[in-house]
Amino acid sequence: MNSELKGKTAVVTGGSSGLGAAVVRTLVDRGARVGVIARNPARLKASLAGLGDAVIGLHADIGDPRQVADAFAEFGSTFGPLNFLVNNAGAGLYYPVDRLPDDEISAEVAVNFVGHILCVRSAIPLMRRAGGGVIVNVSSESSQQPVHGLALYGACKAALEAFSLAINQELRADRIKSTVLRLGRMKDAGFSKGWPTDMRAEAVERWQQGGRFASDGEPMDLDFVAKTLVGLLTVPPAAQMRVVDLREFDAGV
Ligand SMILES: NC(=O)c1ccc[n+]([C@@H]2O[C@H](COP(=O)([O-])OP(=O)(O)OC[C@H]3O[C@@H](n4cnc5c(N)ncnc54)[C@H](OP(=O)(O)O)[C@@H]3O)[C@@H](O)[C@H]2O)c1
Repeated sequence: MNSELKGKTAVVTGGSSGLGAAVVRTLVDRGARVGVIARNPARLKASLAGLGDAVIGLHADIGDPRQVADAFAEFGSTFGPLNFLVNNAGAGLYYPVDRLPDDEISAEVAVNFVGHILCVRSAIPLMRRAGGGVIVNVSSESSQQPVHGLALYGACKAALEAFSLAINQELRADRIKSTVLRLGRMKDAGFSKGWPTDMRAEAVERWQQGGRFASDGEPMDLDFVAKTLVGLLTVPPAAQMRVVDLREFDAGV
């Protein structure tokens, strides 16, 4: 444990699993206080076990404007001004576009794009109270290169990247910076873990045929991704990291 982030506060969306949970642990290890947003209350509670008073669980669906506003209001009344927002929640299923169900379209747009806008909007007044802030928007390689069956997911991430770049201009006077962290595949993250067996099998077969795994290299280790992300929150005041495309050095690509 070190105390480089003592006195700093953060909100991490999707902080109950995968990369988000690793980021929450890294922030707390360095002395920050963190509000963790997720929907499933039992999983949220379990993920915060052992982290003590440094964390609060903020039960919310980021696609719901009312729930997001309430979560940030609760954060503000507990921890006060906000220094960092990590827009990490994200989800997608493997569906070629001709088979995309209506409810999956609205759910993916909500969690991968609209929800991040709602979180940024609610974070701004709390960051102004802190005299500025840093936002990291977690994106995916699929924003730049087509991935079969993830066209909608990749398009949402591309839209998130455009949003992240554009708000830098709007928020400069408030000393609020926005960074895209674009990632390849990660080990031990939840993204495709819950997919039905037949969906996963179809995706793997298609991606093997298309050479996706060979061109990507090995999935990245969550711990170094989380540490890199937290490093982006603490760049010098004069530095602006607009887009970071992160891969593992030894992945062989
Ligand atoms: N995994 C990969 O290989 C990979 C590669 C590139 C980019 N990414 C991106 O990295 C980020 C983290 O991925 P991951 O695999 O670590 O995720 P994960 O393990 O599947 O966890 C997703 C988190 O988001 C929460 N969440 C999902 N929908 C939500 C909603 N509507 N409102 C609030 N919270 C919600 C989940 O909790 P609840 O379900 O309880 O809400 C959970 O805490 C995502 O943005 C993903 O797109 C992942």
